Amino acid sequence: MLWFNLLLLFTVAISSGDSYKILTLFHIPIKSHHILASKLVKELARKGHEVTFVTPFPEKTPEKNVKEISLEGLQALFPPGTTCTSEFKKEDTSLLQKAIFVDQIQYNFTKYLLSHEKIHDLLKTQEHYDAVLLYYYLNDAMLALAHHFKAPVVLFASMPLYVSASFLLSHPSPSSYVPNILTDFTGRMTFYQRLQNSFLDAFMILYYQWFMLPQHQALVDAYVPGKPDLYQILNNESLVLLNSHVSTNEAVPVVPNAVEIGGFHIEEAKPLPKDLQKFLDDSKNGVVLFSMGSIVRSAHFPKDKRKILIDVFSKLKMNVLWKFEQELPDLPPNVKIMEWIPISDVLAHPNVKVFITHGGLLSTMEGVYHAVPLVGIPIFADQKMNMALATSYEYAVEVSYQELTEEKLSQAVDEVLKNPKYKENIQRRSKILRDRPLKPIDSALYWIEYVIRHQGAPHLRYPGADLNWLQRNLIDVAALVAVVVLVPVFALIVILKRLTKNKIKHKKE
Ligand SMILES: *[C@@H]1O[C@H](CO)[C@@H](O)[C@H](O)[C@H]1NC(C)=O
Ligand SMILES: *[C@@H]1O[C@H](CO)[C@@H](O)[C@H](O)[C@H]1NC(C)=O
Repeated sequence: MLWFNLLLLFTVAISSGDSYKILTLFHIPIKSHHILASKLVKELARKGHEVTFVTPFPEKTPEKNVKEISLEGLQALFPPGTTCTSEFKKEDTSLLQKAIFVDQIQYNFTKYLLSHEKIHDLLKTQEHYDAVLLYYYLNDAMLALAHHFKAPVVLFASMPLYVSASFLLSHPSPSSYVPNILTDFTGRMTFYQRLQNSFLDAFMILYYQWFMLPQHQALVDAYVPGKPDLYQILNNESLVLLNSHVSTNEAVPVVPNAVEIGGFHIEEAKPLPKDLQKFLDDSKNGVVLFSMGSIVRSAHFPKDKRKILIDVFSKLKMNVLWKFEQELPDLPPNVKIMEWIPISDVLAHPNVKVFITHGGLLSTMEGVYHAVPLVGIPIFADQKMNMALATSYEYAVEVSYQELTEEKLSQAVDEVLKNPKYKENIQRRSKILRDRPLKPIDSALYWIEYVIRHQGAPHLRYPGADLNWLQRNLIDVAALVAVVVLVPVFALIVILKRLTKNKIKHKKE
């Protein structure tokens, strides 16, 4: 009887609260992004909401309450392997070229989604949604889909906001102390770094405004009924969920309708497969975990770099667990290769002592969560910035990919193992990541429901969001002051000069 009552209580507890209909739009065919989007969708569904989920990664058995609209074809626009080979080479291209590449590939994803007939069918349904959750990353045309359903818009950013997004959303992101995601700067920049940062920010904002937004508008005109004007519907979001946190990112100004939920994807450690558990248990000297994430395949490491890795690993007293997607001949006995590794669950094992990572944000957060010090080999995107911060917080040692030598890598692993400060610092960061008023996923759910309960919560919108950039930064005021103060002063100087000249002339005469 007691059990029955408890069960009843439990059911009431989880089903209390309203159930909402939420449309989730997600356009990026990259696994690490999928982890984030699907985590949000799953938790919304578990809370009793009905979620329609547009995704390139349909599940074999979707969660109860989730209706998937599968856009698997998107995966062909970014096949794992082909693009990553070039990612290693892209090291040599400039930041500006990288920025343009990202803008364009995201536009391609957006175009695929908007032109898909399943999306046209969705637009015809006349379905009512209580909110639209939009994965927001250089896909502004998709805002028109959200607008079409006339529901409060919740944007989700998989990392701190991209600079062009901050600009369009009027989210404060001054170039003076918010480093551009593509740089390897931290918030404390030298004069020269601030100069570079301002230039890069300005370039990325203007390029997106002038070259990408018109293309997004053209997509809207072609595929969205009513052809809404993007400039009208931009910057009308009810809420922005940011996948960042002061533990792994930096303290930045966040407006009242933006909420940091960094770390929300990390779940309680699940039991490991038997052979993996045994390998970790038996590694009495400790384990080095090595993974380059989901985009970069270890198989695309050129031969010479691969040899460096194997040489370093073979000389370690510890065992090495390596995420590698193919067979490797002549493997040293202390190295175990697995095609897929549950990174977070492995990091939770006490024998794991070092995590060699590409420095992706999710991996970095998992390393910090489980307090395993890092050796970072960043390749692209935000990885350099993440590692620049991690080394400034002194819980990681960075090894540049170009300068990856046997000596440098083994020194880095040695340093992280032998110098206790790395472990201490990452334990401190781990505490910061875990010490929150609400678990980050609960915070996400709370705020999504909040904006629905309050009809889009316009009261959270700060007045500055309705000013244009010139007004918000008081450039207009500065210009007027310049005219009113500087012009008379300048005129006075000119007049005085003339007069004195005349006097001198008079005297001479
Ligand atoms: C985007 O698509 C166009 C046309 O299909 C293609 O030529 C271009 O290379 C793609 N851009 C990227 C960055 O993948
Ligand atoms: C802006 O958002 C509010 C609240 O969600 C909505 O009522 C309004 O129609 C939106 N405006 C535009 C132009 O989309």
